[in-house]
Amino acid sequence: MVIRSAEFVTSAVKPGQYPEGDHPEVAFAGRSNVGKSSLINRLINRRNLVRTSSTPGRTQLINFFLINGALSLVDLPGYGFAKVPARVRATWGPMIRTYLQTRDNLRGVVLLLDLRRVPGEQDLDFLTWLKEEEIPCLPVATKADKVKPSKIGPALAELKRALPQGSPEPILFSALTGRGRKEVWEALRPLIEPT
Ligand code: GTP
Ligand code: MG
Repeated sequence: MVIRSAEFVTSAVKPGQYPEGDHPEVAFAGRSNVGKSSLINRLINRRNLVRTSSTPGRTQLINFFLINGALSLVDLPGYGFAKVPARVRATWGPMIRTYLQTRDNLRGVVLLLDLRRVPGEQDLDFLTWLKEEEIPCLPVATKADKVKPSKIGPALAELKRALPQGSPEPILFSALTGRGRKEVWEALRPLIEPT
């Protein structure tokens, strides 16, 4: 994918604030701090168009980005960060579910998982929910640079075992090294093709 332009469009918390759904759209979801914003930056080769942070819970709004004037990428707030005030946390689930259920131009969700961790209950619940909603899901195992090369195979196998039967194979990724960038774009291609 050649990136000719990448721009921030807007932030939203509710449907009235979403931009026009004129383009195929892909959303990025996963635990807080798993590396969603970093993955998007790496995909579009921009160092910091999408704000990243070592503090979990950085992304609290639904952020829309437009790539090459033709593809919309959406950075979702992460789930599962305990230190976020309960009041804020309680609004995240509905905010994200409403977005995913109502967005007509949404083609699929990239679900980020940490290669070093067994998927948590929230990851698995989210996967099941996406399946029920018939929203295509592409799992990505990120932070691969943090795992010794000899341990990557076993870590991936363990991650796969923990996912529900029939889940697509997670793509190995590292925002640090760029590993898996091409594979993620390849996997997204059938989803974002014009219909
Ligand atoms: P929230 O917006 O809080 O939900 O987090 P996020 O999922 O968007 O994570 P973000 O991209 O902000 O990254 C969180 C931290 O992990 C940052 O310190 C990143 O530099 C680091 N990080 C993200 N991806 C990678 C990766 O592939 N490798 C390494 N080593 N660090 C990463
Ligand atoms: Mg983020």
